[in-house]
Amino acid sequence: MPNIPSERLYDLAFLIARAMGSSETEARDVAEHLVAANLAGHDSHGIGMFPDYVRMLHAGLLVPNQTLELVADRGGVLVLDAKRGFGQAMAKEAMRRGIERAKQNGSVVVALRNSAHVGRIGHWAEQCCAAGMVSIHFVNVGDHDPLQAPYACSDARLGTNPFAVGVPGPDGKPLLLLDMATSAIAFGKARVARNKGVPVPEGVLIDEHGRPTTDPTIYVDTRKGALLAFGGHKGSGLAILCEVLGAAVTGGMTIAPHHARQDGIVNSMLSFVLDASAVGDPMQIARETLAVGDWIKASPPAPGFTEVLLPGEPEQRSRERRLAEGVPIDDKSLADILAAARSLGLSDAELDRALGR
Ligand SMILES: NC(=O)c1ccc[n+]([C@@H]2O[C@H](COP(=O)([O-])OP(=O)(O)OC[C@H]3O[C@@H](n4cnc5c(N)ncnc54)[C@H](O)[C@@H]3O)[C@@H](O)[C@H]2O)c1
Repeated sequence: MPNIPSERLYDLAFLIARAMGSSETEARDVAEHLVAANLAGHDSHGIGMFPDYVRMLHAGLLVPNQTLELVADRGGVLVLDAKRGFGQAMAKEAMRRGIERAKQNGSVVVALRNSAHVGRIGHWAEQCCAAGMVSIHFVNVGDHDPLQAPYACSDARLGTNPFAVGVPGPDGKPLLLLDMATSAIAFGKARVARNKGVPVPEGVLIDEHGRPTTDPTIYVDTRKGALLAFGGHKGSGLAILCEVLGAAVTGGMTIAPHHARQDGIVNSMLSFVLDASAVGDPMQIARETLAVGDWIKASPPAPGFTEVLLPGEPEQRSRERRLAEGVPIDDKSLADILAAARSLGLSDAELDRALGR
């Protein structure tokens, strides 16, 4: 399959979201987010999510056109319940309200609970950056079997609980954007290795007996075993805090077993949003941030590396490349997406038209 131009991917994503029942506005939010994830190089969070989303829709675990409920407003704190609404629309609206409040107050904490999958967390940090806001996001994954073993555990107890931080430049683009799963590798990367028949790196996976392994086959096929947290006991601590800040503090669905799991994906997210202009001159903040980045990048690359990159640079490069060259979607992923689309009643002719074929 040749690369697909991002405009065609957008048309396909919009068509599928509409067929799922989303309004035009929501379908635009969903399509923009998913294609942006593909452009950033995170295909695991791009339009390849549709088979899961359609499965969740059929099972009543994802609700199109949901209204974000304001549970509490304490000025500096907004508590919002997404009630399994489409995460791309729910988180966008939650951030919009948070940004509006931070412009008035200087900062805000947004507690978003019980959204269907909110996708790539960096997207929400980018939305904040575009408004001149520094932001920090702690996220949990509920309603889904655990995938990640915290430090010293022999089995999975947490989701891949992502964490993100964005620092804006004067043009509203992030100067730094750290956006990561707290597991050593994302589940999607283990799946890719399994499909290619190659091992995963050492130190990222354990088998069903808690022993280190580099063979992803059994884990991906049966979910027996677990991904390890990144960074030993420190990364594990951050993963646990994503669970507790993301869901216990927001009032969302934690992974604790008294919450029955229905094989959906429920994200809850605690976001700290700070107006850069409330703490100082945004130009000065940008100059210092750039100076720190330049200082780090001036280090001679260590053996085995050709250059030093900063958080957010790989995604920026991917975006430039894929906007110019299109997005590679492998045959199996495209077939799965089209099968999910057909299950919604879309015809081959409609799908081909969206893909420009
Ligand atoms: N919604 C959810 O439930 C959920 C769960 C887990 C992950 N995610 C998303 O999955 C995506 C992928 O996560 P991941 O952990 O696989 O990302 P990753 O490991 O590819 O990148 C993590 C971070 O490291 C930076 N980075 C990557 N290579 C680098 C290098 N060579 N030098 C310097 N910095 C570098 C990236 O810019 C990024 O900020 C993220 O967008 C995350 O938000 C979402």
